[in-house]
Amino acid sequence: MSTETLQVELAERSYPIQFSGSHAALKAEVQRLRQAGRKLRVISDARVLDAQPDYLAQAGFRDSEILSHPPGEKTKSIEIFSQSLSYLAGQACGRDCALFAFGGGVIGDLAGYVAASYLRGIDYYQIPTTLLSMVDSSVGGKTGINLPEGKNLVGAFWQPRAVYIDTNLLQTLSAREFAAGMAEVIKYGLLADAQLLADLEASGGLGADAPELPEVVRRCCAIKAQVVSDDEKETAQTGGRALLNLGHTFAHAIENVAGYGTYLHGEAVAIGLVLATRLSVELGQLRTAEIERVENIIAAYRLPIRLKESLRGEDLMLAMQRDKKNRAGKMRFVTLQALGQATTSDGVTPQLVEEIWANA
Ligand code: GLY
Repeated sequence: MSTETLQVELAERSYPIQFSGSHAALKAEVQRLRQAGRKLRVISDARVLDAQPDYLAQAGFRDSEILSHPPGEKTKSIEIFSQSLSYLAGQACGRDCALFAFGGGVIGDLAGYVAASYLRGIDYYQIPTTLLSMVDSSVGGKTGINLPEGKNLVGAFWQPRAVYIDTNLLQTLSAREFAAGMAEVIKYGLLADAQLLADLEASGGLGADAPELPEVVRRCCAIKAQVVSDDEKETAQTGGRALLNLGHTFAHAIENVAGYGTYLHGEAVAIGLVLATRLSVELGQLRTAEIERVENIIAAYRLPIRLKESLRGEDLMLAMQRDKKNRAGKMRFVTLQALGQATTSDGVTPQLVEEIWANA
């Protein structure tokens, strides 16, 4: 295997994650598709297109092939999903149309679900432009949109044909968005890679121009690729892909109750990681001192470790009951057995969860 790619192994649906040289690889794929007579379309957002005005043109796309949506979590809605499908239908895109997602997690999830649904499924490619989407949402084929009742409640598993990761794109990302992505990076260290966690701690806060960043992104993608290959549809009885949701049960509840857009997803995840660590301590799996270590690492990346303002416990509990990891009416959490090793815990009582929220 080339050192520039990492393969997500899923039998006939395997695909590469391209790292260095990704813009050239994207351009070559665009040419190959055009030569095969395929129609190409891109879904992106206005902020990304403003920040990267030439990226798509230099890869061989035409302006007329780009559908631009407003930036932000609200774009992951039924209305924008419907508009995107109508756009493809209105342009007479057939089954051989290839769709490209150029943006962060919102655009990747939306475009992936459009691709999964349109004509019962067309090819799509991910070109993530945020750190969060590079290390998490662009890899693994989870696609979907939000409902007013909760995040990601509608969607499909639909794997991309390839993922093109170009960390140069992060240079134009705001400091807040970059930090939000670091929450997912820290998550990988906590759940599966104690050495990555120690490296993040030792560096005291990597920036978008850090020379180590491409390797850090690659390490996260390697963990994700392995987990997805082993448990693509999150059906493992214990552990498996659900482990990638460390901190997310709390985070999704925060986003839902605070209102989408109040916290960036990664900011809510940062608080969720602290709460998952606290829960692990309460369950006797970690030492109390480990909470402070986790908080310090998260705070070093300029991420919140507490709620900005308190949210109603009842509303948070209700939001958690809709979590997709729940089994047989019982809440399921991802907890830590050690820093660098996660597990799934089913026997968590609502009282304990209420206590965790009370100190959030
Ligand atoms: N972001 C969690 C997963 O892809 O499974």
